[in-house]
Amino acid sequence: MNRKEIKIGLFGFGCVGFGLYEVFEKTPRLQASIKKICVKDKNKKREIGEKHFTFEKNEILNDDEINTIVELIDDADAAYEIVKEAIKRGKAVVTANKKMLAEHLEELLSLQKKHNVPLLYEAACCASIPIIRNLEEYYDNDLLESIEGIVNGSTNYILTKTIEENKSYELSLEEAQKLGYAETNHIMDTGGFDAKYKLLILIAHAFGVVLKPNDIFNIGIDKLGELEINYAKEKGYKIKLIAYTEKSTEGKIKAFVLPKFIEKTDKLFSVDDVFNGIKTKSYFSDIQFFVGKGAGAYPTASAVLSDISALSYDYRYEYKKLNYTENLRVDSEIVLKVFLRHDLEYGNEFKKFFNLIYESYLNHELGYIIGLITLENLKIITRRKNAETSIVLFTEFKENKNEDLKQKKYEYAVGD
Ligand SMILES: NC(=O)c1ccc[n+]([C@@H]2O[C@H](COP(=O)([O-])OP(=O)(O)OC[C@H]3O[C@@H](n4cnc5c(N)ncnc54)[C@H](OP(=O)(O)O)[C@@H]3O)[C@@H](O)[C@H]2O)c1
Repeated sequence: MNRKEIKIGLFGFGCVGFGLYEVFEKTPRLQASIKKICVKDKNKKREIGEKHFTFEKNEILNDDEINTIVELIDDADAAYEIVKEAIKRGKAVVTANKKMLAEHLEELLSLQKKHNVPLLYEAACCASIPIIRNLEEYYDNDLLESIEGIVNGSTNYILTKTIEENKSYELSLEEAQKLGYAETNHIMDTGGFDAKYKLLILIAHAFGVVLKPNDIFNIGIDKLGELEINYAKEKGYKIKLIAYTEKSTEGKIKAFVLPKFIEKTDKLFSVDDVFNGIKTKSYFSDIQFFVGKGAGAYPTASAVLSDISALSYDYRYEYKKLNYTENLRVDSEIVLKVFLRHDLEYGNEFKKFFNLIYESYLNHELGYIIGLITLENLKIITRRKNAETSIVLFTEFKENKNEDLKQKKYEYAVGD
């Protein structure tokens, strides 16, 4: 098969952009070259000669010889303008920007269809794990039921360092930033937003429905405290930030991002540091488990490189499920088993929101409730003004709040 020559206009020369440049240097057989690099800061010292750079995006976008835009900047709004313009001009696009994709996926998909250009973004979900291409190709016909995963490398790194190595949260976050794992605005990672954006992209490829970021409830790791960390240690659990989605037979989608107690028997238990892990469950192939580095210059650049290489064979996502999917809706009826830590004065108030309480505890300043609660009630509690709360999910959750909860216990659909 004849391979197309790829001439690249690169946007961004930070952690991933420079990583890609270095990966290019070490991949001589690649039929692709970087013609120009657009960056922002005119005063920054660069690792390579000035002649490679421009500060004017149109110098790249107007260049007819450049047939591919690789977008690796840390500004989602600017990235959206660049990607949109590139597609309109018939240039193929490779991007790692999950925030930009999640906020504009529907529009970008119709734009790329209209202009008949590929838009690839493997690096946007779990960096080095080729999960999007697997969802596109392998699970094309198989009936995918659910996806559960650790999809954010920097929070997994922070959790590993704080819970297992007893380092402070602040120091672990600082280390994650130094290693290039964390987003420029770290609340994107620690608040669970980055994981939510990735989950939205995964859902589009897994189930063929494009949700809006607000459809997915997210709680991050920034509120985790000693009480729940000690609880996890006593029980032999780890705490991981989990992205979860499941499609029911009634055409409903469950989707949320929450910290979760992970038991030793769970495959995600051993996914530590900057690694990501994804469990897929489908009707025919049952449970499969993907693992790989979820952040950092080279792991992310390797996924970008793979997309560039795929472009030389004219590869593009077909979004087959988007074309034949039934009318899926977000499920708001989920009942979860959670550990809720709260300030002393909110104990009685918050108990009213629970369907069932297994255990509660109070000391002189705070307390916790372990019980079953609907996702909707959990949202109300987290919005309660001035109340500091922390939520950690247990493995069990219930299917329907109207059922007899005492009688019926369902396991998480993805289990070992
Ligand atoms: N780091 C990771 O592990 C990782 C993993 C997966 C995905 N990603 C995604 O990859 C992208 C890049 O992340 P990063 O970690 O490489 O960021 P980074 O190290 O902060 O680098 C950002 C780069 O973008 C450039 N830039 C910002 N605004 C620009 C604009 N308007 N026009 C042109 N250039 C602009 C900056 O220019 P200056 O150099 O002039 O400041 C810098 O070179 C993000 O979307 C991120 O979410 C990162």
